[in-house]
Amino acid sequence: MNYNHVEFLLSVYSLKQLPEPLLPEIAFAGRSNVGKSSLINKLVNRRNLVKTSSKPGKTQSINLFEVDKSFILADLPGYGFARVDKGMQSGWQELITGYLEKRESLACVVVIIDIRHELKAYDRDLIDWLRHRGRPFLPVYTKADKLSGNKLTKQVASLDAALSLRAEERVIFSSKSGKGVDKLKTMLARQIES
Ligand code: GTP
Ligand code: MG
Repeated sequence: MNYNHVEFLLSVYSLKQLPEPLLPEIAFAGRSNVGKSSLINKLVNRRNLVKTSSKPGKTQSINLFEVDKSFILADLPGYGFARVDKGMQSGWQELITGYLEKRESLACVVVIIDIRHELKAYDRDLIDWLRHRGRPFLPVYTKADKLSGNKLTKQVASLDAALSLRAEERVIFSSKSGKGVDKLKTMLARQIES
């Protein structure tokens, strides 16, 4: 997997708009503002391919990007963002849940978690749900540049314990420093090839 040629495909607001599932897809899920879009930019080494924002709720549709005519990256809207009205929020939730449940070509769900906080109920629910359904997933602890030393070690141990994960089953990441990007690429390549 080289990420040489990356191109925007389309934005999807309802499941009907999804393209035919011809290529394996990797989806990026996580709470609003956790850094999903930033992680994709880092992965493909393009500063502004995907729009990011310091305000939560930036990504409101499923945005699909095709890489090297061989696989697709799906940037999902964040979950758990309270500042939009209820109707809109359940609309997003429906879109994300439907996508995760039904998308046949989905090869892996990257679940992005803020390394600075205790595990949130939303993150646990999503991972339990993916486990229950046998959907392949990969937890990524991001914003690792914001912690160091003992604090970093302690947070990693706490998240690993909360999710019953071993070190080789998750990635410690930073979109800012590039930490973890090589491990993430290796693990995603494995998911796509299997
Ligand atoms: P929504 O689309 O709103 O759900 O957000 P998102 O998860 O796509 O987050 P986005 O990538 O837009 O990033 C949110 C904010 O966090 C931005 O201000 C980013 O610059 C910042 N950010 C993202 N990743 C990192 C990281 O690894 N380290 C640091 N320090 N900041 C980060
Ligand atoms: Mg986003």
